[in-house]
Amino acid sequence: MKTLIELVVLFLVVFSAQAESLYIDQLRDFSPDKKELKQALKQLEEHEAVVLKKGVFVGSFHKQKPDKATDKKAFCTTCHSLPPHRQNERKRSFLNMHSRYISCETCHFRPENISLEYRWLNFNDAANGEEAKRIAPFYAGQFVPVFADDEFSKQTAQSWENMSLLEKSELKLKLHSSINKEGTKCLACHDNKKQLLDLKALGFDKKEIVKLQKHAIPRFFSRFNKEDQRLRMSDLLR
Ligand code: HEC
Ligand code: HEC
Ligand code: HEC
Repeated sequence: MKTLIELVVLFLVVFSAQAESLYIDQLRDFSPDKKELKQALKQLEEHEAVVLKKGVFVGSFHKQKPDKATDKKAFCTTCHSLPPHRQNERKRSFLNMHSRYISCETCHFRPENISLEYRWLNFNDAANGEEAKRIAPFYAGQFVPVFADDEFSKQTAQSWENMSLLEKSELKLKLHSSINKEGTKCLACHDNKKQLLDLKALGFDKKEIVKLQKHAIPRFFSRFNKEDQRLRMSDLLR
């Protein structure tokens, strides 16, 4: 009897996960690799929570008003701060700017041998008169991003709180098994060759598409691949 119940529960979990999101679906067959686990443990030992400065007298130059919060939060922001990018000092302002209209998964979710479609996804509740749309991956008509108030996210957040460092390392690896660290290169979206996004289907008009695909700033960034390469403003004009 017990095994039967377990089977039914397993079936329900697997089945509902499948109907829910490709991201959750991809986590099912995960088993950690020893070397990766060691690396993740080291990361977690060194991990420091981000503390945002409050009451800074001079507000940030580019951002006079704080971002409007959306009704729904991305699952990723359970652990990652918003804005999420800190490490790459050159690109982080641009990456953080994009995070306001492009979901994390658009740049970071890469399942093997599965092609995704990219569409706008509303991060506000249906009842809210105002929309907060972000470009997100879809698979088989279903959006991939998981929201923080989904059952999966709540359970993950709760168990994370009570885990040992080793358990956290394993869960960290599992949650990131289909997440690519490098994100997506600027030119994957800002070029007129082999594009990740179908800008036309997303509703951009001809003029906007030409502007985005020929934009000087992503082109400028694409010339700098090495960390120690010097940036020269004159390169903007090339
Ligand atoms: C339960 C907590 C948790 C959740 C949820 C989570 N992350 Fe992470 N993530 C971490 C930790 C811990 C690290 C290690 C680096 C650090 O110390 O910040 C990390 C690192 C990363 C990195 C850097 C590369 C790497 O693997 O170390 C990327 C990129 C990333 N996360 C993206 C995401 C995205 C996208 C999502 C949502 C789909 C997500 N994360 C959800 C905890 C989490
Ligand atoms: C426009 C694409 C894009 C979007 C949207 C995006 N990222 Fe990234 N992300 C990148 C790229 C590119 C990198 C690698 C930067 C580098 O070269 O070091 C990166 C790196 C990271 C890292 C590594 C550590 C760091 O401080 O930079 C984390 C963590 C991360 N992203 C989390 C997220 C989360 C969480 C979201 C959603 C809230 C998100 N990203 C949205 C492109 C993106
Ligand atoms: C996943 C696709 C994607 C990636 C990767 C991406 N962008 Fe964008 N970017 C967009 C889209 C879509 C817009 C237009 C948003 C809108 O107007 O609603 C945009 C807008 C911009 C704009 C504003 C253009 C204008 O004049 O209005 C700049 C500048 C820009 N991106 C630079 C960058 C840089 C630099 C990188 C790499 C660090 C990058 N982008 C990576 C999709 C992307």
